[in-house]
Amino acid sequence: MKRSAIVALALTGALLLAGCTDSSTTRTTISPTASDGIDRGYLDQSLPIATRVDILLGQMTQAEKFGQMTQVEENSLKTGDVASLGLGSVLHGGGSVGGKGDVDAWKSTVVENQHEAVDDTRLGIPILYGVDAVHGFGGMYGATVFPQQIGLGAANDASLMTRIGKATAQEMSAAGIRWDFAPVLAVPSDIRWGRTYEAYSQNPTIVANLGAAYIRGLQSASLSDPSAVLATAKHFIGDGSTVYGSSTQVIDTPYLLDQGNTPADATLLSDTLLPPYKAALEAGAQSVMATYSSWGGQKVHGDAALLTDTLRGKLGFTGFVVSDWAGCDQINPSNYDDAIVQCINAGVDMVMTPYDGAKFLSSLAKAVAGGTISQQRIDQAVSRILTVKFEMDVFANPYPDPAAASLVGSADNRSIARTAVQESQVLLKNDGALPIPATTHTIAVVGNAADDMGMQAGGWTQSWQGSAGTVIPGTTILDGLKKRAGANVTVTAGLPTSGKVDVCVAAVGETPYAEGKGDSTDLALPGLSVLDGLKDRCGSIVLVVVSGRPVIITDALPGVDAVVAAWLPGTAGEGIADTLFGDVPFTGKLPDNWPKDITQVPTAPAGQDYLFPMGYGLSD
Ligand code: GLC
Repeated sequence: MKRSAIVALALTGALLLAGCTDSSTTRTTISPTASDGIDRGYLDQSLPIATRVDILLGQMTQAEKFGQMTQVEENSLKTGDVASLGLGSVLHGGGSVGGKGDVDAWKSTVVENQHEAVDDTRLGIPILYGVDAVHGFGGMYGATVFPQQIGLGAANDASLMTRIGKATAQEMSAAGIRWDFAPVLAVPSDIRWGRTYEAYSQNPTIVANLGAAYIRGLQSASLSDPSAVLATAKHFIGDGSTVYGSSTQVIDTPYLLDQGNTPADATLLSDTLLPPYKAALEAGAQSVMATYSSWGGQKVHGDAALLTDTLRGKLGFTGFVVSDWAGCDQINPSNYDDAIVQCINAGVDMVMTPYDGAKFLSSLAKAVAGGTISQQRIDQAVSRILTVKFEMDVFANPYPDPAAASLVGSADNRSIARTAVQESQVLLKNDGALPIPATTHTIAVVGNAADDMGMQAGGWTQSWQGSAGTVIPGTTILDGLKKRAGANVTVTAGLPTSGKVDVCVAAVGETPYAEGKGDSTDLALPGLSVLDGLKDRCGSIVLVVVSGRPVIITDALPGVDAVVAAWLPGTAGEGIADTLFGDVPFTGKLPDNWPKDITQVPTAPAGQDYLFPMGYGLSD
């Protein structure tokens, strides 16, 4: 994106540039002068943030205020839009097709957007650029991709979670990206939900502990640290508690659970759903994303009782609320203006339009002019957004540190990812096949997830839905086994044409998915059929399940000697070899109940045991 000259014409008065402008990454140094009539006291870091907000807000035009409440998708921007719309934020969201490439490619885009905001607008308010770095920044080629949250729930290691948050922030901020739409704080009630893997656990205490730990890592000790990234507690509230079949959303396929309806159950709210948010806010989360779903039939994006009375009144939240992707629109699909009025008045401060920046701005102006949204509400929303921007010190540090790019995919971060994979493995069955014996001479690795980075990573990687294939660099399960087995063991991809193999590792996975497109009717795992031909060819069979949730494996159990739940491990596939060979003990415990069959979903009938209950996991 070439920098725009458009807004230069709109600038009143001459800005005396005291310092040189490094068009790449350092801030333009502006020497305040009376000539342009702007009081730049808001740039004075010695002043209290509330004072800086007052100075800035007090001289903002309505258009500039409305712009701060507007977030637009990167892929819909034309050169000059960031400046001409006065955008408060740009996102590269799930709906975008593919990532932008490596850290340098991302940095180039982010910095260009930021230069427009900082240098081509009257007040130079930096944008916050946001992405879904939900398992590391999967959209950035070469980034460290950690296990998805469900695997980290199995690990249940808060200090590790903090290290993952810090490593994620380190790699994001290297590209100039300082806002992460994570962590998900849902407590899934029905594991058929396509976002089950984005949640830590069905145990709200684990969700609260790990969510808070992640936020502390992501946001550093202070949000003003240039490598700190703003966390987003999402999706407030009840996103994972919807009733099967209650969704009316259709995106290529009808959604079943995602974006559906959660019964307005006060006990569920107080005892299960709110504690993770309470912990997240205590950990310092300064943005919250509203959920698409409904609460008692009311779209949460339009629910003031939840977004204001509960989130602010009960939990004391002081940051800003961002909508989900066109989430406001869903309040009233037939009347956008009315939807926007309801959304802002309910408590959404910034709207992820995402392609309708100009339309949103027009609707907002109409509502304020007509009195359906008060000026006080606008000033309140903008003050919240500016407060966070000052807390993050983006005015002083709008651009990334060029030296930080070398930290992306660093050995330290990959080591953290390997530890996370090791700790997330859950041993469900072991009839003596594990650890793989030192006397082993031949190993065959079979199955659709044996040698596939895309299957290991899952959704939110190089694309929204994720995909099988070599989508990002990393170590596959096969790679890891080959490397660990060493030169004296023959490790083959697939069965050899004849003869018996000492150990067969069958890595079977779900085809990647995200959100409601992953809503399942049966939790089936079609790739299990690979087991059919193994019995007479293998000395022992180890089933490794690469999935975003518990799936139906009951009938496969008798025919295998060991079963490991590997979840969606990401780039450090070597962590699976570490546990299979016994170099690292199995410590993972099930974050969710694992059903025998679909009749035990969402919950097992009274008196029935699950195949494996939440908290289950063998150590040898
Ligand atoms: C989505 C998701 C949300 C994500 C946003 C931006 O549809 O619900 O979790 O942060 O879009 O990609």
